[in-house]
Amino acid sequence: MVNYKDLGLVNTREMFKKAVTGGYAIPAFNFNTMEQMQAIVMAAVETKSPVIMQVSKGARNYANATILRYMAEGAVAYAKELGCPNPEIVLHLDHGDSFELCKDCIDMGFSSVMIDGSSLPYEENIALAKKVVDYAHQFDVTVEAELGVLAGVEDEVSSAESHYTKPEEVIDFSTRTGCDSLAISIGTSHGAHKFTPEQCTLVNGVLVPPPLAFDILHEIEKKLPGFPIVLHGSSSVPMEEVNTINKFGGHLEAAIGIPEEQLREAAKSAVCKINIDSDSRLAMTAAIRQHLAEHPGDFDPRQYLKPARENMKKMYIHKIVNVLGSDGKLG
Ligand code: 13P
Repeated sequence: MVNYKDLGLVNTREMFKKAVTGGYAIPAFNFNTMEQMQAIVMAAVETKSPVIMQVSKGARNYANATILRYMAEGAVAYAKELGCPNPEIVLHLDHGDSFELCKDCIDMGFSSVMIDGSSLPYEENIALAKKVVDYAHQFDVTVEAELGVLAGVEDEVSSAESHYTKPEEVIDFSTRTGCDSLAISIGTSHGAHKFTPEQCTLVNGVLVPPPLAFDILHEIEKKLPGFPIVLHGSSSVPMEEVNTINKFGGHLEAAIGIPEEQLREAAKSAVCKINIDSDSRLAMTAAIRQHLAEHPGDFDPRQYLKPARENMKKMYIHKIVNVLGSDGKLG
């Protein structure tokens, strides 16, 4: 059993409290590789932002659970080396689908876990989330639960249809589970293909997706004043990255994300954690494709992973400063 405090990590409690009152959101970036981890830490240090580094079940399968945990420990040491004496880094399990997986992460040094029972019947979702909360809180690990279903595909999580969160359920759910934050469904979805072109309106040659359901978010805020709300599926799928990928041999059709103005608006509300994964994948792939196309003789991975890391770092800094507003918010 390893406690996250011994690794220099923090849980989400204090950072969410400050984010809700301060009208900004904490970035929650997924990582699978060393380059993603380095880019996240460099971006957080340069902008003096707290950051959540999150790991999905798929990431654990890909990179190995133990290695990812040591990478998070290394992230804290790396942030200090980069000149940040007291970094605020959370190691979070994204979309935990069982008590056993959450327990395993808590026992390994995670400071926060998500238990995603959103596809279960309401009472089963509550029972599972409460079981995880009861275990996690013994070690001061914070827990995110989810009500409502997001559409889209992400690692092992997939759903064809979304179901918006019902505001009338949120008080009962949060009280009975004791969760520390609540992921809601208001129209975001996982992956790089969040909307079909038919769902969008063409404005000045750009496909604009339907707006997020801010009315539902505001109703939830009224029912749970000051309670930390989480938005999954919040990549904006930048067209310049999609165009670079397609220009250099890729084939991404109808990739459409959430407009950044809407995320900016959400960050000013009780939404205090915004999950971004696909944008990092796009930034990495675009840079690698471009480099290899322009330097066909290169075969040292460092030659193409370095620009990939730079491109991800640029994207993370942009999100922190221009979308979430968490820059300069380190305690
Ligand atoms: P995106 O696919 O929009 O990046 O969402 C990531 C996410 O919600 C991780 O849980």
